[in-house]
Amino acid sequence: MQIVVVDHPVLSDRLALLRDQETPPSVFRTALEEVSSFLIYEAIRDVQTASVEVQTPLGLAPSQRIEEPPVIVPVLRAALGMLHAALRLLPSAPVGFLGLRRNEQTLAVEPYLQTIPSGLEGRPALVLDPMLATGGSLEHACRAAKGCDAGPITVVTVLSAPEGVRRLESTSHVHRLVTGAIDSRLNEDAYIFPGLGDAGDRQFGKM
Ligand code: PRP
Ligand code: URA
Repeated sequence: MQIVVVDHPVLSDRLALLRDQETPPSVFRTALEEVSSFLIYEAIRDVQTASVEVQTPLGLAPSQRIEEPPVIVPVLRAALGMLHAALRLLPSAPVGFLGLRRNEQTLAVEPYLQTIPSGLEGRPALVLDPMLATGGSLEHACRAAKGCDAGPITVVTVLSAPEGVRRLESTSHVHRLVTGAIDSRLNEDAYIFPGLGDAGDRQFGKM
């Protein structure tokens, strides 16, 4: 698994905003969308393009167009805040939703929605979730995508814990992990430390 930690002062600035407990949900959502744009921009560097010729006002310009974008798989709820950024970069990409809830007592993954199109026939997948903590949710998501015959999987997270990175690595389902930061560890409640708290609650309020 290739691991890319994106490093840019603007990204660092918005990550600081996301981490700050005083940041209200409206500002948090805007910063998450900005961070997601930077991360997804890096994550799709190798997206397939086709050569075309475009007629400019002056003549023909040899150009590249994105041919078959990856299927986007946001892990609900928290990745809803990343989806708009992904669709702005890849407007014609199909979207398969995956609803997963982590049981906070057992840490087991509880799936409640799955709309990834079956028969992807090797199409690359871009799996989005702001938080990679124990890795249970993203492991489930990547297995679900592979079960629909997805090709190479790129996972995009805002923050990751070393424990979750190792777990994803061990599945050998993930081609590339693109993340904004790898924090020091999980805390006793299996939250990323120092992290940013609960990414779903910070956007949409406590469930
Ligand atoms: C959060 C987060 C990840 C998961 C990470 O979702 O968005 O999906 O926890 O934890 P893990 O790596 O240990 O599985 P949560 O289950 O809180 O649901 P939500 O997005 O609806 O808030
Ligand atoms: N889910 C979150 O939203 N944050 C964490 O740190 C861990 C799981």
